[in-house]
Amino acid sequence: MRIILLGTPGGGKGTQAKLICEHFDIPHISTGDIFRGKIKEGTPEGKEISEYTGKGQLVPDRLTIALVEERLKKDDCKKGFLLDGFPRDEKQAQALDVIMNNKHEQINFVFLIDVPKEIIIDRILGRRVCPKCGESYHVKYNPPKESGSCDVCGTSLIHRADDQEDIILDRLAIYNRSTEPILKFYEEKGILHKIKGDGRIPEIFAQISGVLSKTQ
Ligand code: AP5
Ligand code: MG
Repeated sequence: MRIILLGTPGGGKGTQAKLICEHFDIPHISTGDIFRGKIKEGTPEGKEISEYTGKGQLVPDRLTIALVEERLKKDDCKKGFLLDGFPRDEKQAQALDVIMNNKHEQINFVFLIDVPKEIIIDRILGRRVCPKCGESYHVKYNPPKESGSCDVCGTSLIHRADDQEDIILDRLAIYNRSTEPILKFYEEKGILHKIKGDGRIPEIFAQISGVLSKTQ
């Protein structure tokens, strides 16, 4: 099963990706997480990446595509995978097609998690993440057991560097300009599933897993 999760910043891609990947036992490949890992390492590549992510801009295609291509070569992707936040523009969508064709594989499902803008801002501003293990929470909708601490490793939770209102607005504008146009590409292939993303986390997961289970 090869899946792409698309949707606005803060729409719930990471939250649903975790549930899907646990349930269907496939690796979760998030370009955002890969980039945050590189930034944490403090390498020149990480520094270059942070210049873009810090402003909410897309990391250049050449770097993004090369990292995804490398990740998809790993053995764990043989059983399938979920791409969270990739592709994000036409160039990336075309590059992914070439990568898949070369492997004689294809993407089976593309889910768009569709969430109204007012809800997105509330979700992003309330998000807290663990700087150590990457686990993500929401102060109201998905709180940790102990306020301010990660359930998994106990580390103090923080705001993501790009989760400030002015940067969020830029991320949303870039989504509308660069990512929304690629939905048509997948619609024409007949693999796009639009999911109503303004419900509760388990309800959204039920919609997605309903589609996936039906076609297994
Ligand atoms: P990335 O990390 O992918 O950020 P994003 O796309 O902006 O999406 P988010 O991670 O902010 O949101 P999400 O949809 O995962 O929502 P979440 O589940 O956390 O990318 C970061 C940056 O990296 C980009 O800006 C760009 O610079 C760069 N980048 C990444 N990919 C790239 C690419 N392909 N090309 C170029 N550059 C790239 O949920 C949000 C909050 O809401 C959480 O607190 C959660 O608990 C809560 N929540 C989730 N679902 C619900 C629900 N149903 N009800 C209530 N609360 C909910
Ligand atoms: Mg995410």
